[in-house]
Amino acid sequence: MADTLFITDNRTGKKIEIPIEHDTVRATDLRQLKVKDDDFGMMTYDPALMNTAAVKSRITFIDGDKGILRHRGYPIEQLAENSTSFLEVAYLVLFGELPNDKQRTDWRIKIRHHTIVHESIKKLMEAFRYDAHPMGMFISTIAALSTFYPEAKELNDPENRMTQICRLIAKVPTIAAFAYRHSKGAPYIYPDNELTYAGNFLNMMFRPSSKEYTINPVLERALTVLFILHIDHEQNCSTNVMRSVGSSHVDPYSAVAAAAAALWGPLHGGANEAVLHMLDEIGSVNKVPAFIKEVKEGKGKLMGFGHRVYKNYDPRAKVIKNLAYQVFNVTGKNPKLDIAIELERIALEDEYFVKRKLYPNVDFYSGLIYQAMGFPLDLFPVLFAIPRTAGWLAQWQEHVTDPEQKITRPRQIYLGYGERNWIPMDKRK
Ligand code: SDX
Repeated sequence: MADTLFITDNRTGKKIEIPIEHDTVRATDLRQLKVKDDDFGMMTYDPALMNTAAVKSRITFIDGDKGILRHRGYPIEQLAENSTSFLEVAYLVLFGELPNDKQRTDWRIKIRHHTIVHESIKKLMEAFRYDAHPMGMFISTIAALSTFYPEAKELNDPENRMTQICRLIAKVPTIAAFAYRHSKGAPYIYPDNELTYAGNFLNMMFRPSSKEYTINPVLERALTVLFILHIDHEQNCSTNVMRSVGSSHVDPYSAVAAAAAALWGPLHGGANEAVLHMLDEIGSVNKVPAFIKEVKEGKGKLMGFGHRVYKNYDPRAKVIKNLAYQVFNVTGKNPKLDIAIELERIALEDEYFVKRKLYPNVDFYSGLIYQAMGFPLDLFPVLFAIPRTAGWLAQWQEHVTDPEQKITRPRQIYLGYGERNWIPMDKRK
């Protein structure tokens, strides 16, 4: 049997044979099928790209039916369990291999070199209202960074690309923490390069400006694991934006700002904040059945449930659920956990959710941990964007160096008016 597809166009009787590669066919091969010679030729129509591979990638593999997630071949469960630092996994997704001891040390030094931001960035952030949503501040400030590094648009220089990648990975925790301190009217705590990536972030977030601050190792480890779990997830909505915006060869700061804007949506990375608002709305365990009934009547969604790819339990959600108990041992149990567990118990038994293969995703339990650690709800999408910046950049670099890729420019099915003539004002209805 050959790796080809025979297609007969019954409109014309034309038969074509097109090659199958990686279990896909090239959409452009369909352009041979035309009714009239001057037709553009057949296209595929795929709203939301439900069944379209737009890129080839070697970074992350997901099997949604089996609940498998691997980065460069390493199962997420092993990375979460064994990696001692987020930067080690950031190195893996960017360079394709786990770093050896020297590579890890050099990488850490490179990142730490860029954790500080220009004082004008601080002044820019101070222009926001005290109650500005930190994700709005994050997106705007990341975009503003592009004005400080005009050389960033030189994408063909690998060394220059890597410098911008290091700057972004290093600065996103600083910008996130500054946004939080701004909302509190608290002085900013500058990066401390003696600390780990997660530890430095906790220090910039919560250190009282006037006295010492001890980072709890359990919380530091928990945040490291949460960052690792959120680092990349193949061609999700925000990564698709990163690649599409990046395909115009704009600088990576502008592309990351665009990707972060996509992530903010409640259907995507904004779901972790939406889960906590949902749990607050439910209020108590005995109100869960009434809420589930409303969801089944189509009056709302069970935030933190469902996934475009996972039609099984999101492997990250399993790790996060176990992590929650470790954090609560330190912080005290988040009272909303009982509501979340009851929601999950009912949903996993209820035909409505079972039939639609709706399981808890990465966002269902993460917010409970963030809240218990003292992060405000509106910072949750920013906590997602911090680690995902490394994944976006790995995907972006793969895209801008892929010889098969060009500027992203999809086609359309045009259903609008045919040609018609101008109507003077006095003739309009
Ligand atoms: C992330 O893509 C990624 O990889 C994303 C992510 C990453 O790491 O980058 O994993 C991170 O974004 C996780 C998802 C976080 N979002 C939420 O938790 C929001 C709630 N979930 C849904 O909005 C929804 O499940 C999506 C957006 C996640 C997926 O939606 P799909 O694949 O477009 O599925 P769909 O909307 O077509 O739903 C299919 C059916 C529909 O019912 P019917 O019209 O067939 O009757 O399932 C229903 C939906 O109404 N449904 C839900 C539901 N999710 C889907 N019903 C109730 N609650 C939900 N959460």
